[in-house]
Amino acid sequence: MKKKIEIEIIDKKQIPETEPERQYYFMDIAKAYVAQLAEKKGAPLTFHVTTFGCQMNARDSEKLVGILERVGYVETATEEADFVIYNTCTVRENANNKVYGRLGVLQNYKKKNPHMMIGLCGCMMQEPSVVEKLKESYRFVDLVFGTHNIYKFAELLVTAMESTSMTIDIWKDTDKIVEDLPVERKYSFKSGVNIMFGCNNFCSYCIVPYVRGRERSREPKEILREIEALVADGVVEVMLLGQNVNSYGRNLEHPVTFAQLLQEIEKIEGLERIRFMTSHPKDLSDELIEVMKNSTKICKHLHLPLQSGSSRILKIMNRHYDKEHYLELVDKLRAAVPDIALTTDIIVGFPGETEEDFEETLDVVRNVRYDSAFTFIYSRRTGTPAAAMEEQIPEEIVKERFDRLLKEVQRISAEKAGVLTGQTLPVLIEEVNGQDGTLVTGRLSNNSIVHLPGTAAMIGKIYPVKLLECRGFYYVGKAEEA
Ligand code: 5AD
Ligand code: SF4
Repeated sequence: MKKKIEIEIIDKKQIPETEPERQYYFMDIAKAYVAQLAEKKGAPLTFHVTTFGCQMNARDSEKLVGILERVGYVETATEEADFVIYNTCTVRENANNKVYGRLGVLQNYKKKNPHMMIGLCGCMMQEPSVVEKLKESYRFVDLVFGTHNIYKFAELLVTAMESTSMTIDIWKDTDKIVEDLPVERKYSFKSGVNIMFGCNNFCSYCIVPYVRGRERSREPKEILREIEALVADGVVEVMLLGQNVNSYGRNLEHPVTFAQLLQEIEKIEGLERIRFMTSHPKDLSDELIEVMKNSTKICKHLHLPLQSGSSRILKIMNRHYDKEHYLELVDKLRAAVPDIALTTDIIVGFPGETEEDFEETLDVVRNVRYDSAFTFIYSRRTGTPAAAMEEQIPEEIVKERFDRLLKEVQRISAEKAGVLTGQTLPVLIEEVNGQDGTLVTGRLSNNSIVHLPGTAAMIGKIYPVKLLECRGFYYVGKAEEA
């Protein structure tokens, strides 16, 4: 049995059955427990949420923080805290290994701090083998939950606080979307907004559909209501989030396209910039390109994962487009939005990838000339069709191809950086520069970073900035009179 500081258990009567009321009820109980513990400690309880992986996880972490702050925990910058949560990723094997490694460090902190609780959540927890390993070798973890029941965090927190053993609650899937829970944004002026959850695409290398479940879209009116509230609270830029935003709305009772949703969001007064990710090439419609062309708020940046340039490999990856279709999309996008920045994801070493297949990928890279590209070594994820394929590629060959690809990607990014020098363009100021306090740092519509002289008072506002020069991958500029 675990040693734990005792709390006086609160009797629970008339627990609400509907959400989000039920979670607010549990937040009140958690708050009472946190107050009891803080009194024993003689100081407020602290927490730290560490996020691995994608923007979806970053947004989920903001929801965890929202609840923790509401129940009385105080955020701290280190993992030597009274409650540490790892919001995990499992897209590639090394993401899992990183978590196991760091859990060892947390165990040492916990030995010194009797108040400490450790929570694990996110995609990695949806893998049964991970939960088995935790139960066997990581008994000091207090709370384990997955991606489908994150909205129940307040309730799970209460269970974990009352329990002396590991609390585990993992759901296989859900069709439930709970609105109106507290969220604590990392930035005051920009925010992620989930428009859908899950993925139906089953790309043959990818574990996401297994750990995030089937695709579910939020109702447009709920999305609009959330963005309106964010704007009223000072947000000027939103990032619409989904595994495949281009298939948004298909499973709603009254189907809506992503392009239609964007047009509604565009009308929100006070909202200045709209970003979205991720776009799947197979579902990128002419309607969407037209909306992007006519919009004054949609940013001039599109992340369009290629994965491979070989039509043969794309077929085995179950991507439902070929090299020609992808290149055609890029042409259409550039014709509609001439200075759009394009970024991508590429996997090297997918099973059966030949030198010729890899050359096709290099060919697309040279042809499209991405502003930047995330390159990944193929990672064999148990349970996915690709993991069972013969012809896994030897490590030395993959590494050699990866290095060649990276070089090509970097050469092109370096050539492209700086093309806007001399222009005056709107920059959203995001923060005071970490290295030089006389500078502020912001972003252009195309997502490029700009440093310019300024003060904290400029944060969250958009200024016309003259781009004076490009240093490496960022611009140095000067704000013009508005
Ligand atoms: N191995 C390597 N990269 C992967 N990705 C997804 N699954 C794998 C895998 N098994 C990459 C894809 C995706 C990005 C988020 O992660 O490129 O677009
Ligand atoms: Fe994975 Fe493909 Fe879904 Fe993206 S679209 S999350 S790569 S299965």
